This record gives sequence, C-alpha cells and structure tokens, in this order.
Amino acid sequence: MSAKLFTASEAVRRIERTSLRVQQPASSGGMVSLAMGEPDFDTPPRIIEAAAEALKSGYTHYAPLLGDPALCQALADDVSARSGNPVRPGEILVTHGGTAGLAAAILSIVNPGDRVVIPDPTYSLYADLVNMAGGICIPMPCRADLHWDLARLATVMEDAKLFVFCNPGNPTGIVHHREEIDALGRLVNRYNTLVIADEAYSDLVFTERPFTSVLQVPAFAGRTLFCQTFSKTYAMTGWRVGYLAGPAEMIAAAARVHNSVNGSVNSAVQRAALVALTECQDDIKRMYDVYRQRRLLMIDGLSSIPELTLNEPEGAFYCFPAYSLPIPAIDMVSLLREQGVAVRPGSEFGAAGEGHLRLSYAASSETINEGIRRLKRGLAGLR
Ligand SMILES: Cc1ncc(COP(=O)(O)O)c(C=O)c1O
Repeated sequence: MSAKLFTASEAVRRIERTSLRVQQPASSGGMVSLAMGEPDFDTPPRIIEAAAEALKSGYTHYAPLLGDPALCQALADDVSARSGNPVRPGEILVTHGGTAGLAAAILSIVNPGDRVVIPDPTYSLYADLVNMAGGICIPMPCRADLHWDLARLATVMEDAKLFVFCNPGNPTGIVHHREEIDALGRLVNRYNTLVIADEAYSDLVFTERPFTSVLQVPAFAGRTLFCQTFSKTYAMTGWRVGYLAGPAEMIAAAARVHNSVNGSVNSAVQRAALVALTECQDDIKRMYDVYRQRRLLMIDGLSSIPELTLNEPEGAFYCFPAYSLPIPAIDMVSLLREQGVAVRPGSEFGAAGEGHLRLSYAASSETINEGIRRLKRGLAGLR
C-alpha cells in the first residue's frame, strides 16, 4: 500500500495542536449575537467613493511592495506626529490588515525555540503565529482586574526574545495606562526584549485618562514593531488594510515575509485608506459616540446580573465579565446559545480567560438589550 500522500506541514500541525481559537457555529434565525469582533457600521461612504474613483482612474496595477507612496507618507506623518520623531522611508509597511501585519512581524522575528511572552488572556492569533514559527509561548496571566501583573511580567521577561500585546485589550476591554506602559518599557530595555504592540483599538478608548501609545514612549523606539489596522477605527474589516511601523531593519525583515506570502496590498484599497486617514475624523467621532452609549448600556445591563462580576471596560468594544458558576466557558457558551444568545468563551483567549465571557457592544442597542435579557435569564436558570 502506498504511503499516505498528504500530511499537513509541522507548522500547520503545531497550530492545530495548540490553537484555542474556536470556530463559532453559524447563528440561526432567532439568535441574538453579542459575539462579533467587528464594527456593525458600514464603511463611511467617502471611503467607498475613493476606492471606486481609484479603480476608475487606473489603480488596477501592483502597488509598490512597501505600500502606495502617498499612503506611506501620510502614515509616516501620522506616526511622526504621535511619536515626535521623524519617520524615514522604509520604516512603514502597508499590510493586508492587522492579521498579515502581525504574521509578518512574528514570522520575521521568531526562530524555533524562541520564547515569546504573551499576556493571558489576549487575542488568540498571537499564539497561533508564534506556534507556526516554532516559538514557545509563555503566557503571562493577568491580575483579577485584567491588568498586567508587573512583578510576574519581570520574572518571565528575563529570557524572552519578544513580548506581544494589544492595547486596548481584546478580549479584556482593558486600556493599559501610562504607568504600565512605562514599566513595560523599562523591562524590555533591562532584558533587551523586542516588542510587537498591536493598537488596533486605539481610537476606541473610553477612559478619562489619555491613551498612551508605545509611539509616545521613547523606551520602545528601536525595538518595537507598531501594528495597526484600518479595520476597527474606520469600519473597514472587509478591505484588508493595515500597517507596521518600526526600525527600518525590522520593517525590511517583515516586508520579506509579507511580500512572500501576501504581495502588495490592493492599489485602490490603499487610495481609500488614504482618504480614511486624512478625511474621516468626523466619521470616527460619529461611530465613537455610538460605541460610548452602547458601552454604558452594556455595563448597566451586566451589572444587573448577579452571577457576573465586571471590571470596568475601558476600551475596544468588549466587556469581559467573570461568572460565578462552575461550568467551563465552552460549555457555558453552548448553554447560552440554547437560550438564544451568542457570546464568546473567555478560554478562547487563554487559560486565564476561563470562567469569563466576551461580549461585544459592536451591536445595536436593541440587540444589546435583548442579548442581556437572555443572558440574565440563561444564567439564572443555571444556578
Ligand atoms: C487585537 C486585534 N488585533 C488585530 C486584529 C486583526 O484585524 P484585521 O486583520 O481585521 O485588520 C484584530 C481583529 O479582531 C484584533 O482584535
């Protein structure tokens, strides 16, 4: 008998063995979903018009590999304005969304056996990519209030090559404040650690404190890839456009991966991204104001459920309550689906997410109200 013709590569099998990502079953007709990780807004019309216009005017060819020059310049200006330092050519790479930016970043840094510290819980793509590269994930459990345990972070950082994190946090909705970011900056300098800072939700911050980006903290310069996406801020999830910013040497390495796997980003989409970046401040504000209202609505609703404990969500569009029932999160999510409400299991984002649910308020007020009602009834029935 002939040997088995196909076996997936070790890289694929490592992801299969370790991935916590769960494929959500398709929602049936009556299901109320608070499970989505994407804006429920449509892309602002002027961005759509810019893409249509670009296609009509001939933006149908390959774009330069690092990105459309006008978009790269606008991104460089934006990053310079935030960091206070000039961004030079070769320090920006336009990517196929945040996903390809993260993939290019991680695959260009991590060798087999390298240790990579990742907060737990966090966005599950990071661990999948580290495992794909053959690296070793060191999960760093967050405190009960979902902020970093800095003493613990110091102990795991010592022999790590890389630290990957998002701020604001998915799934926690936490915004790491200036003191935390400064403390991280000191640690990565002490241990000479590289950093990938994913600020996908940085325009969705609802605290009184101003947001602190790694771009504003000199300790991160020279060792950090800043990862950004147009998906969340501009409601452009389907367009697949984002970017990396960082030292030219690190960007060149990430570009090598991105160009090998993805190639340049669609020319017309990059023209639309330019319009988003430079002309859509009022659209951002409009959507932000709606999220702010919905966040209060969801906090109010969740606070009325006795089985839940909620740390105040500070950013992104997620709430991440802990529940008090002795049921694994995966089973809890299935039981709640039977009650007609879809949410995400906290364990999908790391072992320390067990006992939590992730709810998204990127949904209409009616959906939030009805979802909370079903959640309340469902949890009461399981007591
Ligand atoms: C923290 C974080 N980073 C990156 C992404 C990827 O975004 P995209 O690939 O749509 O740009 C997501 C998507 O959910 C996310 O939550």
